[in-house]
Amino acid sequence: MVREELATFDDVEKQAWQLLDKSIIYYQGRPIGTVAAYDNSEGILNYDHCFVRDFVSSALLFLSKGKYDIVRNFLEETLKLQPTKNELDAYTPIRGLIPASFKVISTNGKESLEADFGEHAIARVTPVDSCLWWIIILHAYVKATKDINFALQPEFQQGIMLIMELCLATRFDMYPTLLVPDGACMIHRRLGIYGYPLEIQALFYAALRAARKLLICAGDEEIVIGIDNRLPLLRDHIRHHYWIDMHRLNVIYRFKGEEYGQTAVNLFNIYPDSIRYADLAIWLPKYGGYLAGNVGPSQLDTRFFALGNLMAIISSLASEQQSQAIMNLIEEQWDDLVGEMPMKICFPAVEKEEYRIFTGCDPKNIPWSYHNGGSWPVLMWFLTAAAQKTGRISIAKRAIELAQARLGDDQWPEYYDGTKGLLIGKKAKKYQTWTITGFLLAKELMRNPDRLELISFAEFDLENASQACEL
Ligand code: GLC
Repeated sequence: MVREELATFDDVEKQAWQLLDKSIIYYQGRPIGTVAAYDNSEGILNYDHCFVRDFVSSALLFLSKGKYDIVRNFLEETLKLQPTKNELDAYTPIRGLIPASFKVISTNGKESLEADFGEHAIARVTPVDSCLWWIIILHAYVKATKDINFALQPEFQQGIMLIMELCLATRFDMYPTLLVPDGACMIHRRLGIYGYPLEIQALFYAALRAARKLLICAGDEEIVIGIDNRLPLLRDHIRHHYWIDMHRLNVIYRFKGEEYGQTAVNLFNIYPDSIRYADLAIWLPKYGGYLAGNVGPSQLDTRFFALGNLMAIISSLASEQQSQAIMNLIEEQWDDLVGEMPMKICFPAVEKEEYRIFTGCDPKNIPWSYHNGGSWPVLMWFLTAAAQKTGRISIAKRAIELAQARLGDDQWPEYYDGTKGLLIGKKAKKYQTWTITGFLLAKELMRNPDRLELISFAEFDLENASQACEL
């Protein structure tokens, strides 16, 4: 951080920048990432790793400040960790995967990187989001530096192709969405989000958009055609089948079940009795709506998931009208979705029998804590970016003010608990890097709204797709 610029910041921001500096991981003398948390108080577990998803806000911040080297090093080193061969061994990560996290280890004075593809993670969850985020970060890097040649290097082209193959080619089902196991994203513990969770679909869409621009743009390769085919199908599927507002709720409420064949309206055989439509009808504002958490066979998860909805706005997966409706909902149901700390990872929490079944009685995911309805300051930058994209700046301002008043004094906790986010998370780590960067990036987006371009996409237009390599 440049000294003159730092001088213009208030004390909370200054402290945040200093903490971010401390979180940087060096490998063979070069900066390559940031630790998840700089907290030595008790069992650090894997919080001394650099998580790919946690690094996103750090990366966007570094790029905004012209600190390109750390992001470039991160992209190069994580790419080297990507398996390029299929071992046909159940315990080996599949070709194309990017690890959830990595750390530097030192043996006899020699440094190397140790990656975790989920094989060490609690509950051995698969980090599906990492490879999607990796492409999104690469795209942001190229946009910031205008160095398309970086992504055109053969190893990077191969890296993108392998991820695309993994997402587009090998699968059992025939939905345009991506089928994943539970805990495959930011929520990396069991929470009833297996199947087609919105967060993964929104990241998938953004990664497809990014890959389309980064792959050598001849337009006739099988993968490029696959991306062009998939993008509109995925977008329309989400806009139609995931959307919930009063109009749609009325349609769902009167759904007929057991429809067979081509003419079915209720394609996924959703039984209206499985939906809490009475609560929802009261909760949904007249001009508000949101994308459901998950849609699959006889499954419509009506929980609101923040990251998926906000990324859907940022990536233009949601239509312009839907994006405005999501922001209306956040504004009108502020107490539930933001409360005293931006913002809830999902709403409502699952309780009682649902908690027992969905989480397997996870003591960390008790109702209104951690992933199960906890409040995560990192989501503030997504909220600010979505507010910028939709021109709803007052929403971002209000959120940032709330956070600014508490985060520093509370020592930058990972998450908050309670229905309003008033309690510091029961098991939250302190000095959590993405809490710090989430706040700083939100501030940066407010000061320089053009930074939004690093991460956002305009409406997809198939006709112009072949010119897409102009970043
Ligand atoms: C948290 C989050 C996960 C994050 C990790 C490291 O438990 O659920 O998304 O990557 O810890 O911060």
